[in-house]
Amino acid sequence: MKEQQIQQFNHDLLDWFHRKGRRLPWRKTDNPYYIWISEVMLQQTQVNTVIPYYNQFIKKFPTPEALADAPEQEVLKSWEGLGYYSRARNLQKGVREMVATYNSELPKNKSDLLSLTGIGPYTASALMSMAYHEPEPAIDGNLMRVLSRIFLIDDDIAKQKTRKKFEKLASDLIVQTEPASFNQALMDLGAMVCRPKIADCSQCPISSHCRAYEEGVQLEYPVKSGKAKPRMLHYAVLLLLDEQGRFLVEQRPDSGLLAGMWQFPMLSLDEYEDEQQQQAYSRERFQCSVEPPEAAFSYTHHFSHLIWKLTLRIGRTPSQMKLRKRQCWATMNELKRFPFPVSHQKVIRWIEKNRPLHT
Ligand code: ADE
Repeated sequence: MKEQQIQQFNHDLLDWFHRKGRRLPWRKTDNPYYIWISEVMLQQTQVNTVIPYYNQFIKKFPTPEALADAPEQEVLKSWEGLGYYSRARNLQKGVREMVATYNSELPKNKSDLLSLTGIGPYTASALMSMAYHEPEPAIDGNLMRVLSRIFLIDDDIAKQKTRKKFEKLASDLIVQTEPASFNQALMDLGAMVCRPKIADCSQCPISSHCRAYEEGVQLEYPVKSGKAKPRMLHYAVLLLLDEQGRFLVEQRPDSGLLAGMWQFPMLSLDEYEDEQQQQAYSRERFQCSVEPPEAAFSYTHHFSHLIWKLTLRIGRTPSQMKLRKRQCWATMNELKRFPFPVSHQKVIRWIEKNRPLHT
């Protein structure tokens, strides 16, 4: 992104965060010890579960000394039900080291933070930004999901190398004056809007900057290997005809799944709760309503890490409709010159056989 786009991106993101971001107890404090506790609890645990534990924990152990001096069993009792109990033991060990080595103060630089038990690269960056307002991106799974969609990054997020790439990218983006808000805005966006299986793009403050949204491939990102079970995504394949019987087709992005191949536009059904919402979306985007074809046609297509469940929908739309980048109208003969993946060749064969809307 160019400098001006970055500024607009950050403006849109932070404006949303200040209006809609979550008001969480650890965001009201500037006590680095409390922020550390919250970050440890938030590893592998949902925000709503953490809130009551956090509140009772800081009440019971209000200072680093109180936690350092407590018997381990008492600390574990306060953690009871939260799971991953080694987090509690490591936190206490780290706090004891801080009391002994750093005069009970959390260090202000990353390498000293990393020397403490229980603090890894993510927690160190989160603390630098949230406790000390240093421009350090806190790269976790949520952030990688959001950024992979914004920038259409198809590197495998299970790989260490990919995390470095996201770190570099986020370092170029991060708001120097409000790094804590920047990180937490992306976290909230990932938790509330840009979720793994539902991307509620109509509510997203930065959808106009999002390449995955532009291409309609939000749910195909991020790419993550090593998943035992492929993810199932439901799409409507839109067969849209103009007055001359031409079809609307589009080229997929130049990176990622089926890069550069052609397809009929696809509408993610996982993102729309009911038929009405889907219809509203297709009216807005394609200036028509889309109906199931006379003979309903549904099929599945398997990739190594994904399964597409596809349902054909059909509609008429005016040829003057404003096309998006990489879209065009094509007759049957013309579209046969474009490379289509098997999942969409099936549609071409279906059209030839059924001749919908008297094409
Ligand atoms: N997950 C990790 N850190 C968080 C924070 N500060 N707010 C919300 N979720 C988080």
